[in-house]
Amino acid sequence: MIPNVVTIDLGALRHNLFEIKRLAGPNTRILAVVKSDAYGHGMIPVAKTLESAGIDYLGVFELEEGLELRKAGCEVPILIMMGITSDEVSAVVEHGLTPALFQLDIAGKLSRISAEQGKVTPVHVKVDTGMTRLGVFSGDLPNFLKQLLPLKGIQVEGIFSHLAVADRPDDPFTDQQIRRFQEAVEECRRLGVFRGIVHVANSGALLGNKGLDLGVARPGILLYGAPPAKGWAAAASFKPVMGFKSRVIQIRTVPPGTSVSYGRTYITQEECTIATIPVGYDDGYSRLLSNNGEVLIHGRRVPVVGRVCMNLTMVDVTGVEGVAVGDEVVLLGAQGEERITAEEIATRIGTINYEVYCTIGKSNRRVYIDS
Ligand SMILES: Cc1ncc(COP(=O)(O)O)c(C=O)c1O
Repeated sequence: MIPNVVTIDLGALRHNLFEIKRLAGPNTRILAVVKSDAYGHGMIPVAKTLESAGIDYLGVFELEEGLELRKAGCEVPILIMMGITSDEVSAVVEHGLTPALFQLDIAGKLSRISAEQGKVTPVHVKVDTGMTRLGVFSGDLPNFLKQLLPLKGIQVEGIFSHLAVADRPDDPFTDQQIRRFQEAVEECRRLGVFRGIVHVANSGALLGNKGLDLGVARPGILLYGAPPAKGWAAAASFKPVMGFKSRVIQIRTVPPGTSVSYGRTYITQEECTIATIPVGYDDGYSRLLSNNGEVLIHGRRVPVVGRVCMNLTMVDVTGVEGVAVGDEVVLLGAQGEERITAEEIATRIGTINYEVYCTIGKSNRRVYIDS
């Protein structure tokens, strides 16, 4: 069997939830974002762990994910953050899910089907305060809610918005968005068209202590033990949940002038010891790490040499004592005193840690551990 394994540490996940609760304070409930297979960590085991640790709500992107969670026995409220299409209404009502809502035609159908079944479906209205992605513009919120008022079978349990730059602590746009959001919500309360919960705080807002007084926070990346961007000292107490390991499958010493991998982009300058590991871009190890990445062997950093292939990568282990076939290689995570973070990989390849987790997590066999 291929020795590659993504490890998911559920103990670290519980620790991160605890840290989030500590930062958010006792009066803030937590909606854990587990969309996209829990950022590559595996939605069901992550959701089950969070549920048994007392999570208040779960957030997914689309209906399918919500249905999977219900099938797996998750009973907590589940918010479908993308909203739903007309043909998904019946499933939402049947399985007691909570859709984001921003279209009146969907509201009408939800109302009709819920009322027919004698049910009340909770919805959270999505407000666009500056992402220009999804939702009712904040200025249109009071009018939107007024139109929902006569509809039986639905209850506006919540209103939420999403922040565009909360990962940048000094950007004033976050405060502007939160102010716009709060004003719209207060206007709706004043008009008597809303009495529910509100939430806006993603991981960046949580770390920056913004939007927490609203009563619910909605973090994703912090749960998985990573900061939303570089430079957040407050994220240091969080523990990375994902690791990625492989093993050496061949090792050779080659003379100077030897080319390594496709394209001959690396030529040895001296006698080198080259180890081959069965990880490639098909395993989520980006080809942009060619001649650019580092991995850990025997607790030491060694460079990727030549191009990352579809299923294989070569590293230069010259000078590392006694490397042998079968030795553990850490591509993400810690070995000895060294650690390779998703943030490091992201910086090397010009992306964000979110994408590194999603890609590596989805492309490999996952093993769950509990530290
Ligand atoms: C609507 C919404 N809320 C919350 C989050 C969580 O964001 P973060 O992972 O930065 O905490 C996301 C993530 O993309 C999102 O789309």
